[in-house]
Amino acid sequence: MTILVSGGAGFIGANFVLSWLERHDETIINLDKLTYAGNLDTLKDLRGNNRHVFVHGDIGDREQVSELIARHRPRAVINFAAESHVDRSIHGPGDFIQTNVVGTFNLLEAVRGYWDGLPEDEKSAFRFLHVSTDEVYGTLSKDDAPFNELNRYEPNSPYSASKAASDHLVRAWYHTYGLPVLTTNCSNNYGPYHFPEKLIPLVILNALLGKNLPIYGDGQQIRDWLYVRDHCSAIRRVLQEGKIGETYNVGGWNEKPNLDVVHAICAILDELKPKADGGRYSDQIVFVKDRPGHDRRYAIDAGKLERELGWKPQETFETGIRKTIEWYLANQDWVRNVTSGDYRDWVGKQYEAQS
Ligand code: NAD
Ligand code: DAU
Repeated sequence: MTILVSGGAGFIGANFVLSWLERHDETIINLDKLTYAGNLDTLKDLRGNNRHVFVHGDIGDREQVSELIARHRPRAVINFAAESHVDRSIHGPGDFIQTNVVGTFNLLEAVRGYWDGLPEDEKSAFRFLHVSTDEVYGTLSKDDAPFNELNRYEPNSPYSASKAASDHLVRAWYHTYGLPVLTTNCSNNYGPYHFPEKLIPLVILNALLGKNLPIYGDGQQIRDWLYVRDHCSAIRRVLQEGKIGETYNVGGWNEKPNLDVVHAICAILDELKPKADGGRYSDQIVFVKDRPGHDRRYAIDAGKLERELGWKPQETFETGIRKTIEWYLANQDWVRNVTSGDYRDWVGKQYEAQS
């Protein structure tokens, strides 16, 4: 049996591919465009593994995707492929509409063409799982209950609007064409192979380089953090046992203000890699201009996934963040490889304008 994963050279997709191959005998076809966020170095341990087939390509290329699906006849397609960084979506929303909306549409159509032609037993066993975000629900104030699956969609950034649009397309392909879909909406992930444009890896990298640790606004915005391998186990569970047409929120009940997250990272680094000059990493914290339209608080109610499918995360924030920092300290080569010229251009553009 075979499953097709799109975006499996990115942060969550690659963690999914690696964790899947550790547990299953099935082959993975890994379709990825290798944008700045996709990195073959992350998959280097899979070289020579005949259960992993990497294909360089775009979910928006219907011909290529249709041909690939027809050739490999997967029993499931999991869509991780996306433009994923909110700040980049503010600077340039076009790629987000192209991949997240048009790309998801093309992928759905390619999958529908294949699924329509399957014999009845394979047709009913097939699944299309769409990986989405809690950002589609918009923002919460301090006293609001965490987002559940019945919350209204109220996206506020070009990124979250494009993901909301893709979720709606997936929903429509179920209701209109009967395509057997599942959607997961997850909170903020962190862990190995996280591209250092996002808060946690950026802070670890900058701290080690003696650079500023940029906090947007007052740093009291709240995010709900989940260790990436726990997100992967939730996706596996939903793929195996989720009810067709349903959406599942994924989160670890780990709400934290950004400033607390940054202080937690600094404290662990002080212990694991004390600064040569005897100073504290937290001395590098700098408050910078806020993100436009910055959502104040995200929090996920993962009760449905826990009750109906029996899923539970393995890591607390405290265990997960320590593992993550240890991973970055042990994998400086990976960090050096992904922080190329393009990365430096982005960091220059984003933070020079803000400080
Ligand atoms: P990422 O940016 O690290 O990786 C995205 C991957 O998709 C990259 O490998 C990239 O090359 C690939 N890609 C981009 N455009 C493509 C295209 N047109 N065709 C094929 N491949 C393409 O993203 P991530 O953080 O791993 O997120 C993966 C998915 O999970 C996204 O859909 C994102 O919206 C969702 N999500 C992310 C988080 C998070 O905290 N990172 C939380 C919830 C949901
Ligand atoms: O909630 C799920 C979402 O989490 C995913 O859908 C997105 O793909 C993912 O990128 C993430 O979005 P955020 O915008 O929450 O993540 P980011 O790491 O960019 O920022 C986390 C918080 O930290 C946010 O409130 C902004 C703040 N921040 C971020 C950066 C990069 C800073 O204060 N300084 C920074 O330099």
